[in-house]
Amino acid sequence: MKITKICCIGAGYVGGPTMAVIAQKCPEIKVTVVDINQARIDAWNGEDLDKLPVYEPGLDKVVSEARGRNLFFSTDVNKAIEEAEMVFISVNTPTKTYGEGKGQAADLKWVELCARQIAAASTTDKIVVEKSTLPVRTAQAVKDILDNTGNGLKFQILSNPEFLAEGTAIEDLLFADRVLIGGDSSPEGQEAIQALVDIYSHWIPREKILTTNVWSSELSKLTANAFLAQRVSSINAISELCEVTGADVNEVARAIGADSRIGSKFLKASVGFGGSCFQKDILNMVYISRSYGLHAVADYWEQVIIMNDHQKARFAKNIIKALYNTVSGKKITFFGWAFKKDTNDTRESAAIYVADYLISEQAQICVYDPKVSAEKIYADLDYLNTRSSEENRKYVTVLSDPYEAVDSAHAVAVLTEWDEFLEYDWDKIFQSMLQPAQIFDGRNILPHKDLSKIGFRVKAIGKSF
Ligand code: UDX
Ligand code: ADP
Repeated sequence: MKITKICCIGAGYVGGPTMAVIAQKCPEIKVTVVDINQARIDAWNGEDLDKLPVYEPGLDKVVSEARGRNLFFSTDVNKAIEEAEMVFISVNTPTKTYGEGKGQAADLKWVELCARQIAAASTTDKIVVEKSTLPVRTAQAVKDILDNTGNGLKFQILSNPEFLAEGTAIEDLLFADRVLIGGDSSPEGQEAIQALVDIYSHWIPREKILTTNVWSSELSKLTANAFLAQRVSSINAISELCEVTGADVNEVARAIGADSRIGSKFLKASVGFGGSCFQKDILNMVYISRSYGLHAVADYWEQVIIMNDHQKARFAKNIIKALYNTVSGKKITFFGWAFKKDTNDTRESAAIYVADYLISEQAQICVYDPKVSAEKIYADLDYLNTRSSEENRKYVTVLSDPYEAVDSAHAVAVLTEWDEFLEYDWDKIFQSMLQPAQIFDGRNILPHKDLSKIGFRVKAIGKSF
């Protein structure tokens, strides 16, 4: 089966970059990305490529090459579904905030709505591809809805989980370690798998395209993220041990990472992992395990989240302790709010939780982040519902100049590892801060010895000075 038209529902961090790369690499396929959010679609269609709704290095170039040629962004969801042979579902699946499974299970409301909309808008058979991270066996639910509401048409459901990491999405898409496609073992299922294999084969070597059954594919995505998050929690657990024993977590990471069985990647101790996937996927895994009565499995994975929450709280508590056990009325400057560098995404960012903790102690937080807007920062805090939005605005200021942000601050806390922090004039920063000027490096990126020489009191994750 030859695919000539693709529709992708959801123009977010996953749908936007993924479809841009497919369109760039497959110029003969018309790719339409649709979203119900008009402002988002307008931003994707905007002239100024610096203002795309998703910030990703290299994305602007890919979009400028393909947009208007075979890549289109639209709010006309039904039309795009109708004309496509293949429809990707790339909508958000946040953790439920209400009812059964609250705080753990994925909220599949948007996925179900998509399935219903695909069924209603279709007049021809379609291949439906799950791109969003979904709990295992979601494909069954999607299939059930399509088969029962889809005017007797035939739908094949594939699972094609996304493994891109934000900040390196374009690289990850272009040079993927692997592409995973799960589908049905029937001849029709195999034909659908082949149609998607043919698309990725435009730029991914065939041996890197893995095909499995749907459930393995869905579970592999959750497992990959759980393993990655577990590595971060493991090294973060060791970081606390380093601080009390005099070991240095970077040296420990280097020593263990040299063992090829362990590997050197993903061993950076930090203030805690964030992002839209790690926590959500592990919570999903915990929820599924518990619902099958596998309590030991659930407890095991839950510990990764518990450790991560501990690391965020520990960072905030260390700041309070170093500032003589009170931060009330004290200005503390946050360098960085995004959950990692090179993205404007803040979902589950450690910065949100550290700020929330310090605000509860009445600290005055001043935030500088090169890519995150003030509205987003306030919205993140308001979403926690810890206090009123007026109060959040009273305690938090957002500035666009880092030097202004540190003026008269008691402390600087590095929450995101943006490269530009290394280029700053730290002498000048020292002069403008209140003394003793303190730095809390939640990412271990700054030159700690040089800063100590300037006169800063420095604290970093997994180090004792
Ligand atoms: C992750 C997976 O890497 C990706 O494959 C999947 O498709 C989506 O989830 P992402 O959340 O975008 O990607 O970023 P990632 O680079 O994995 O970082 C997640 C969090 O862990 C960030 O907050 C990051 O700062 C933190 N992290 C990562 C560490 O603290 N230390 C590390 O060594 C690595
Ligand atoms: P992700 O990181 O998974 O890409 P985002 O929240 O960035 O998540 O993007 C998901 C997008 O899906 C949002 O822009 C949202 O408006 C869109 N969306 C959700 N439900 C629907 C729907 N039924 N039809 C079209 N777009 C949808």
